[in-house]
Amino acid sequence: MPKQENPTTRQSTVSAQPRIHQSAPPIQAYGTVSHALPLELEEAVRLEMTEQLNLLLADSITLSDLYKKSHWQVAGPTFYQLHLLFDKHFAEQVEIVDEIAERIQLLGGISLAMAHDVAETTRIPRPPRDREEVPVQISRLLDAHQIIIGHCRKLAERADELGDDGTNDLVVSDILRTNELQGWFLSEHLVQVPLVISEPSGMRKAG
Ligand SMILES: [Fe+2]
Repeated sequence: MPKQENPTTRQSTVSAQPRIHQSAPPIQAYGTVSHALPLELEEAVRLEMTEQLNLLLADSITLSDLYKKSHWQVAGPTFYQLHLLFDKHFAEQVEIVDEIAERIQLLGGISLAMAHDVAETTRIPRPPRDREEVPVQISRLLDAHQIIIGHCRKLAERADELGDDGTNDLVVSDILRTNELQGWFLSEHLVQVPLVISEPSGMRKAG
């Protein structure tokens, strides 16, 4: 005798209604790396690299936020050029953020993503909600670059020691060099030079 279809089952599996409000346990725990990857890199190496890259990710996300804050809140006679420069650097940091996050996933890890987790992880000091003057904005940005650059140098060396060439290349070629360049562009704005009238020789000392 042919098996009769149960109308209740059919109703529960075929429906035009979207299945919203679903939840389930996570498929991978944060801080772990997945096992079967054709990378020829030991699990211990991938664990260490993903942990370090997540620190770099949190700092890079924070720096990109700091650039957007500066882009919005900048004031003064250099408003226009800094408004544009801050946004250019923001966009470059956003690219870096994506590259780091995807490298973490590629290594079998889990990248940080949400603001709460980033805030708990970053080493960059929290700025006030208040609006600050240009030299202070730039100083904050330079301090953030210094934290990232210092970490890049250590991480690149460690990745090299462990044979993780891909991480070494990403950190040196993309992250370190971009941060060095952005730091140079910013620091030149903090050089005290005459804007309109030069001081005659003998009136000032080079320092
Ligand atoms: Fe804008």
